[in-house]
Amino acid sequence: MKILLASSNQGKLAEFRQLLDGFEMVPWPTDAPSLPETGAFFQDNALQKAEGARAWWLEHGLEPVDGVLADDSGLCVDALWGGPGVLSARFAPDLASYRDKNHRLLAMVPDGADRSARFVCVLAYAPLQGEPFTASGTVEGSLAFAHRGDGGFGYDPIFIPDGFDQTFGELPAETKHTLSHRARACAALRERFRLGVNP
Ligand code: IMP
Repeated sequence: MKILLASSNQGKLAEFRQLLDGFEMVPWPTDAPSLPETGAFFQDNALQKAEGARAWWLEHGLEPVDGVLADDSGLCVDALWGGPGVLSARFAPDLASYRDKNHRLLAMVPDGADRSARFVCVLAYAPLQGEPFTASGTVEGSLAFAHRGDGGFGYDPIFIPDGFDQTFGELPAETKHTLSHRARACAALRERFRLGVNP
């Protein structure tokens, strides 16, 4: 199966290539428009991106694909009332590097506050013809006290999954892929494919 990934996030593309091995992932073209995400919930945004990308691809696509996959994900921090959440990609737009964004996010958490956090991923798959559907995954954990490790991408260096002492930035990618929000959402997606895209 050939799947177009409706995202220009290189970190996500690298993870999907490993998590969805056996599927051919077509990257979103660099000259394609960026996809709006204006919803209040991960699910709304994932569907909006998958449907928007499908419409664009049907008109401009360069090669046939079976469907389009979009990922809306983010880090939800309890002490920040669930933020940055759906706004994770837009947090601290004045800062260029995730090292700086992570530093700012950690500084926003008051001393002594509950450091519980979770990564959430909602995938939306839109077959070229037919109804889109979603699959989701979550990983519970807590915030580190500093940016630690250079693996992964985004907020990985400040997130410690439950059951570990290291951040996702320090743990090997293989470990992240056994328990991450995206790995769990991909497992649910594979199950849905196994049952038939339009059962
Ligand atoms: P969006 O799904 O395009 O809105 O972007 C999600 C944002 O959440 C990414 O740009 C990252 O900042 C963050 N994010 C999502 N998943 C991960 C992850 O697995 N590790 C680290 N950061 C993530």
